[in-house]
Amino acid sequence: MSLQTVRVDLGARSYDVVIGDGSLEASAEALKALCPRGRAIVAADAAALGHHRERLLAVLDAAGLEPVLIEIEGGEGAKSWARLEALVEAMLDANMERGEALIAFGGGTVGDLAGFAAAVMKRGCGFIQIPTTLLAQVDSSVGGKTGINTRRGKNLAGAFHQPALVIADTGLLASLPRREVAAGFAEVVKAGLIADRALFERLEAQGADALEGGALVRAIADAVAFKARIVAEDEFESGRRALLNLGHTFAHAFEAEARKGTLIHGEAVACGIVLALKYSARLGHCAADVADRAAAAFRAIGLPAAVSDLPGGPYDAEALASRMGDDKKNEGGAITLILARGVGEAFIARGADRADLIEFLKGETR
Ligand SMILES: NC(=O)c1ccc[n+]([C@@H]2O[C@H](COP(=O)([O-])OP(=O)(O)OC[C@H]3O[C@@H](n4cnc5c(N)ncnc54)[C@H](O)[C@@H]3O)[C@@H](O)[C@H]2O)c1
Repeated sequence: MSLQTVRVDLGARSYDVVIGDGSLEASAEALKALCPRGRAIVAADAAALGHHRERLLAVLDAAGLEPVLIEIEGGEGAKSWARLEALVEAMLDANMERGEALIAFGGGTVGDLAGFAAAVMKRGCGFIQIPTTLLAQVDSSVGGKTGINTRRGKNLAGAFHQPALVIADTGLLASLPRREVAAGFAEVVKAGLIADRALFERLEAQGADALEGGALVRAIADAVAFKARIVAEDEFESGRRALLNLGHTFAHAFEAEARKGTLIHGEAVACGIVLALKYSARLGHCAADVADRAAAAFRAIGLPAAVSDLPGGPYDAEALASRMGDDKKNEGGAITLILARGVGEAFIARGADRADLIEFLKGETR
């Protein structure tokens, strides 16, 4: 059993991310230490629980913890005011105390919802992440961003609330549909494109093999270590952390415009990253082949790399630009984008020219 541990260094809020097949069993003692009342209150994705209930219960039993399972239907619908209310009420019904920790067992949607519930529960209770999708293991479970979607768009209500421990057990991914695995991997490729050229070039060379066995554990650990470095520098996203949103302003617009239930986050991110790189080339910041290389890397693992490949369309340029105008990164009504000067050289560009962006999007959505 080869496990890797990455430390997220945030002073008093520092924590470990334990990665690999078997990290769940290896973390029984750590779970016990974080659950002082002898029970584990788990907000669990119903699908993940369906596949891994026995394993989870065995680990909690080994830790001497009595399970309190709160089942949640995963997917974007989980990130709503109604589900937040239901979860907080369920935690209160369980007489949860502030000193206890809520354990999120699920993908990014259940993790984001549970983290927000933990942030507001009695003004902040403990929180542990056991991510069960690749996207959650490489990205959403680390860094403390939690939240839900609102009528105006994704992730517009939320809080920063760091977990005390993240257990990224790759064995839990065995039941994940291949489409979801590929989607999660978009965030690993993203890490390379933002600031880790060596990682991107390794993934480029590995193609679909990067999704298997030891290569996958190494890729997760590299992506988490990269994210941990950026979060340690800028926990509350007042600067550099915004780089992690490469492709996301485009992606959120696609997600808001897509026919319901057709598009998954990582797919929108893959296409959004290619667009951000193409737009960088249009503005003269980088060579055109950077977007081509990113597109090839995404296609090699089965991800869409152009608007025409993206499920949930057709997409309209004006509507997309309007959604991009709602993004949280914007200041004073101007659109902020993450652009790049090359592979591993992303930067924050404030004040995008809206008319030019619409022209660009018209070309891409034609
Ligand atoms: N907080 C952050 O920093 C951050 C970062 C990136 C993305 N996100 C958010 O993450 C969300 C996407 O997360 P996701 O891609 O994990 O989606 P998800 O949580 O919807 O999970 C995808 C699907 O897989 C199912 N599932 C989960 N684990 C499973 C397993 N082990 N076996 C079988 N099925 C399983 C779920 O029920 C769901 O249907 C988005 O809402 C996005 O905004 C947050």
